Amino acid sequence: MRGAVVLLGLVGFIGPAAEALDNGLALRPTMGWLHWERFMCQIDCDRDPDNCISERLYMQMADVMVKEGWKEAGYEYVCIDDCWPSRQRDAQGRLQADPKRFPGGIKKLADYIHSKGLKLGIYADVGKKTCAGYPGSLGYYETDAQTFADWTVDLLKFDGCYMDWTLLGEGYMNMSKALNKTGRSILYSCEWPLYEWPFKQPNYTAIRETCNHWRNFNDVYDSWSSVKSILDWTASHQDVIVPSAGSGGWNDPDMLVIGNFGLSHDQQESQMALWAIMAAPLLMSNDPRDICPRSKELLQNRRIIDISQDPLGKQGYRTAKVDSFEVWERPLSQNRLAIAVMNQQEIGGARGFVIRAVPGWKICDPLCNVTQILPQYKELGVQTPKSKLVISANPSGTALLTVTPISSNFRRMLYRQEAIKQKYTNL
Ligand SMILES: *[C@@H]1O[C@H](CO)[C@@H](O)[C@H](O)[C@H]1NC(C)=O
Ligand SMILES: *[C@@H]1O[C@H](CO)[C@@H](O)[C@H](O)[C@H]1NC(C)=O
Ligand SMILES: *[C@@H]1O[C@H](CO)[C@@H](O)[C@H](O)[C@H]1NC(C)=O
Ligand SMILES: *[C@@H]1O[C@H](CO)[C@@H](O)[C@H](O)[C@H]1NC(C)=O
Repeated sequence: MRGAVVLLGLVGFIGPAAEALDNGLALRPTMGWLHWERFMCQIDCDRDPDNCISERLYMQMADVMVKEGWKEAGYEYVCIDDCWPSRQRDAQGRLQADPKRFPGGIKKLADYIHSKGLKLGIYADVGKKTCAGYPGSLGYYETDAQTFADWTVDLLKFDGCYMDWTLLGEGYMNMSKALNKTGRSILYSCEWPLYEWPFKQPNYTAIRETCNHWRNFNDVYDSWSSVKSILDWTASHQDVIVPSAGSGGWNDPDMLVIGNFGLSHDQQESQMALWAIMAAPLLMSNDPRDICPRSKELLQNRRIIDISQDPLGKQGYRTAKVDSFEVWERPLSQNRLAIAVMNQQEIGGARGFVIRAVPGWKICDPLCNVTQILPQYKELGVQTPKSKLVISANPSGTALLTVTPISSNFRRMLYRQEAIKQKYTNL
């Protein structure tokens, strides 16, 4: 079975990841909110003042993130995407925010976001123009890095439109150096490999040294086919990309679209579970001012976030495809394992999966303790290598579990405690 081959990956090729960008940031996958997928380039504030790209939008997001438990759950960065700047640089060649939509300017917005205990992200482009046609940073890397630092920005998403692909690496590296030179720690989110893949296999050692996370594949859309295509791309390139992930630098499969229009609840659970398994940045793009309570509860699920943020910092792999199920596994700290079993049969009802068929189940020798997190929290108790446990997942849904090995010493201790208890209760 293919699973056996990939399993080697889990134990064999995970050495220490190469050196990460040394800016002290993204030690765990970044968490926050990013405007693009939900709000795109809606700039007509006369027609739609509540949803246009304006300082009001980010201030309202910051308010709701504090009030509705998002910040407490770990969502920290409020991020602006494309379409924020004015069409022209100022007289000194600096980027400036659109004066009508950002009357206070970015520095004042950053002060507001910081006053809520949150961080502000901004967007720019390595080439001549941004993807939506606003001024790009080519030729202005140092100026723009300094402008963002002066504004006390905390994260830069640096897109790759309108750039000669042979200069992508140089451009991304130059901006990384320019950010460092400002002396302000600014989390650096890149799209270098996404724009390079059509021409050559990117150098992930260099990317990890340069960026805190990096997009590899297409933009996410609000649809199950989009989420599935991202998972498929990731699995089919996992031997190349997974070893590059680790504390300080992560593969970025793009935003969480949970809480929008396109995914069923089971599919939302699948995205959340698999993004945690992939050690992906959890940047949601939705409208937390108006979100269904079940989606909110899923996004704020402490047990899933704990998997995402696990201190071992290893990204998971797809380890098997059997009987229209996909199995993904992520090694966790304290020798634990997270397992996601996704039901890919998009017809019929819930189907069962015999859990001992998971390639990593061997950590249950001699015993393990299993906790199911999705679709419901359930303590499934102590299991053995021969366990008959069957877990169930709905079509396009996912069962998410954590498995904790129980050592034979621990088992001896349990027996001893049991024996002592017996002895005294027998008295
Ligand atoms: C700049 O890079 C140096 C060396 O890699 C590092 O020690 C320093 O913390 C970095 N500074 C910032 C602000 O990222
Ligand atoms: C990157 O910086 C080097 C050294 O300053 C310069 O020669 C090169 O043209 C820059 N490349 C880009 C794409 O900005
Ligand atoms: C990839 O980048 C690293 C670090 O910058 C460099 O040492 C290595 O030679 C590069 N590998 C290739 C194949 O270009
Ligand atoms: C198994 O895990 C559950 C939930 O985390 C915990 O309450 C229980 O004590 C564990 N059992 C053993 C034997 O470790």
